[in-house]
Amino acid sequence: MAVTWRSVLASGREQLGPARTHEAKWLVERASGLDGTDLLMHLDDCVASRHLAYFDQMLARRKSGEPLQYVLGRWAFRGLDLLVDPRVLIPRPETEVVAGLAIAALCDWPNDARRALDLGTGSGAIGLSLAAEVPGAQVWMTDRSSEALAVARANLAGLGGRAATRVALLESDWFSAVPADLVQSFSVIVSNPPYVHDTASLPEEVVGWEPASALFAGPDGTDALRHLIATAPGWLVAGGTLVLELSPEQGPSMAALALGAGYHDVRIESDLTGRSRALVARRPA
Ligand SMILES: C[S@@+](CC[C@H](N)C(=O)[O-])C[C@H]1O[C@@H](n2cnc3c(N)ncnc32)[C@H](O)[C@@H]1O
Repeated sequence: MAVTWRSVLASGREQLGPARTHEAKWLVERASGLDGTDLLMHLDDCVASRHLAYFDQMLARRKSGEPLQYVLGRWAFRGLDLLVDPRVLIPRPETEVVAGLAIAALCDWPNDARRALDLGTGSGAIGLSLAAEVPGAQVWMTDRSSEALAVARANLAGLGGRAATRVALLESDWFSAVPADLVQSFSVIVSNPPYVHDTASLPEEVVGWEPASALFAGPDGTDALRHLIATAPGWLVAGGTLVLELSPEQGPSMAALALGAGYHDVRIESDLTGRSRALVARRPA
């Protein structure tokens, strides 16, 4: 009997089980190169053996516990379709909110002052969103991991167009390799740094696959946050904004730290589920 996309989909659903039945459609879409109504129109087409082999390989990887996003090799973030693999953290929905806060802050500046820095860029999710969504934005994106930067570079190539010409990538331990002539010149500094405490027990799908250097940051998870709050004022222009992703329980102490460090307009913002997820603070004008 001929193998059709309908039968492949049914087999995928059965093998992945009830909790992941919806994922079979993602895998079929990836293997077939068809999505939405296109897939519906071709469900009864015969499946070429190379497409079936690709589907089977992805299904086996998913059944072994590899995150769906790495199996697919791509993931959506705001308007972007990003390459993702185990060299980078999988971009999360709460980070879309953090990127939105940075975008709003950058838009408050005139076009020629829209200079932003995304620290620990990983896949490039935040920095590339700034470049794509803020007219005239000049964006520097840094990461300590050369492997992560290779992924960010590929995603920058995917961005293309004029926005891509206004993006620079730097291998850097936070600010260390940012050119000295950019001191006190950024109108927005944004980061989703590692903020999980070292002894946290995370799901196997996270800790077994995503880079540890993207997750863990000291005994209470605030090592990177504290460093960025302390050092960002030296790189922000007067009135510039720092936006940091954090976990909900870190909000009050990091807000207090920012106030103590002299920031103004310090606030904690929530994600779409109402959980505190970002510190926003301004360097005094
Ligand atoms: C939580 S991930 C965020 C990735 C991406 N910005 C996102 O939101 O999906 C943290 C990133 O910070 C990078 N990182 C960790 N320590 C760093 C350091 N000292 N300097 C620069 N980047 C660092 C990691 O390599 C990782 O890519």
